[in-house]
Amino acid sequence: MRAVWVTGVLAAAAVLTAPRWLPARVVALRAKVFEKVNGDHAITFPNADVGPDRFEEVYGHPAANGRSRGAGLSDLFWYWLSPGPEVHQEHLEAGPRYDDVARTTRALLSGPGEVLAEAAARCTGRVLDEVVTGPVTLVRLRDLMMPVWAEYFHELVFGEPCPREARDLIVGHADDVVTSLKCTGLRHPARRARLTRYLARRVAAGDVRRPLPSSLSPTEQVHYLQGTFFNTAVVQMSEAMAHLLLALARHPHVAARLAGGDERYFAHVLDETLRLYPLFGIAHRITTADLALDERTTLPAGSVLCFSYPDYHARGHARPDVFDPDRWTRPGARAHHIPFGVAANRPCPAWRLSPLALRAATFEVLRRVTPRSTVTHTRSLPSRGPCLLVRVGESPRGLAALDAFLRVRDRWEDVWRSVVQLVLGTVMVLHARRLRLAGRYFDTHDTQGRPVRRQPPSTEEITE
Ligand code: HEM
Repeated sequence: MRAVWVTGVLAAAAVLTAPRWLPARVVALRAKVFEKVNGDHAITFPNADVGPDRFEEVYGHPAANGRSRGAGLSDLFWYWLSPGPEVHQEHLEAGPRYDDVARTTRALLSGPGEVLAEAAARCTGRVLDEVVTGPVTLVRLRDLMMPVWAEYFHELVFGEPCPREARDLIVGHADDVVTSLKCTGLRHPARRARLTRYLARRVAAGDVRRPLPSSLSPTEQVHYLQGTFFNTAVVQMSEAMAHLLLALARHPHVAARLAGGDERYFAHVLDETLRLYPLFGIAHRITTADLALDERTTLPAGSVLCFSYPDYHARGHARPDVFDPDRWTRPGARAHHIPFGVAANRPCPAWRLSPLALRAATFEVLRRVTPRSTVTHTRSLPSRGPCLLVRVGESPRGLAALDAFLRVRDRWEDVWRSVVQLVLGTVMVLHARRLRLAGRYFDTHDTQGRPVRRQPPSTEEITE
């Protein structure tokens, strides 16, 4: 009887303290599952041999330029990004096809800074007017921002306002991709296919503002637009805004200073946000030739190199875990900061557009509301950033109670969500391994997407 009682007490204690210990354990377990996918050839930088001083040299090495072929990880990424991962700019191998695609992306993202910023402010204002209808509004920041960037990139690609029907399709698609990437939900291919059909109609009608890559077939052109502009662009900008606004919500003195419209200070706040919460956790490359680190160590061709942004960004800073925009006024702060990747190896093509669009959107938000939140802020932000938006000029009652509610709900959601992520992550890893999308593609295509005929086995192979 005593044993039953003790077990009951222990079980109750484990459940009640779960928010403190369970999420971290589950994250560690999930990391193990993903390590397994990487296989034995993966090396993560910075490490004991290659410290932060040589990180960018290795990242930018000419041999570190393979993107998809030959890494087990690619099957998983292709699974998450479908349809059309084989023509997603991020995953194309170097060569004329990649150059053609990258040129088109640059052309679509170019334009006068004032025009790009004005459109961001306008789209933000329109969505906020829809959502903020009372003195206090409870939102998830990523969900708040997705329609903004869906409208923005629709306008950028087609040069005309985004119809509501198209916005819903884009948000449905982008949200489905990022939800599955974070393992908080499964993929819904039919939802993604609805956007493909819409884009196919627009491409066939010749509605895109710039010529599409001529080396891609019409179907591939549609997939290219879908992957780069209506997934990556929308997701990255929504995640960046969610991090930025959540950081402001948790540091009211920074938000108050920023509300004055100081552009220089905004640059520091954005740098600090992307330093502490980089959108890429790990970027990987596959070596296409041997890469000599020094006289003793050579990484053979086919090695998977993993570059850890959070680790690199933390090196060389005092109190790296603290959110402190003023660190950017001190000498040396720029070292070890690559929020948009490294210039020598496929950096982000939106490195110019993103900061100015984010700045315009942030000032538009702060003109209308003050964000306020008590939730945990992590780099992967699976909570999507729960936050209160308090209309500027209002001081509603009951905010302290809402703060407490958000804090408690967040801790318990974290417990449930981390278990869901572990289970769904494992299911998707196994499904992706079975489908082997990247592996099967490269069985039948070369790195430039040309079909390759399977060679009959050589005489030696037959005798072996
Ligand atoms: C704040 C927003 C953004 C951040 C912080 C960001 C960050 C990055 C980083 C770090 C990389 C390099 C990853 C690597 O080395 O593998 C990258 C690549 C890329 N980004 Fe962004 N990004 C942002 C917004 C965007 C937007 C708006 C687009 C719109 C098209 C975009 C499209 C791409 C593409 C296509 C690549 C692959 C480049 C290549 O391989 O040639 N990103 N981004």
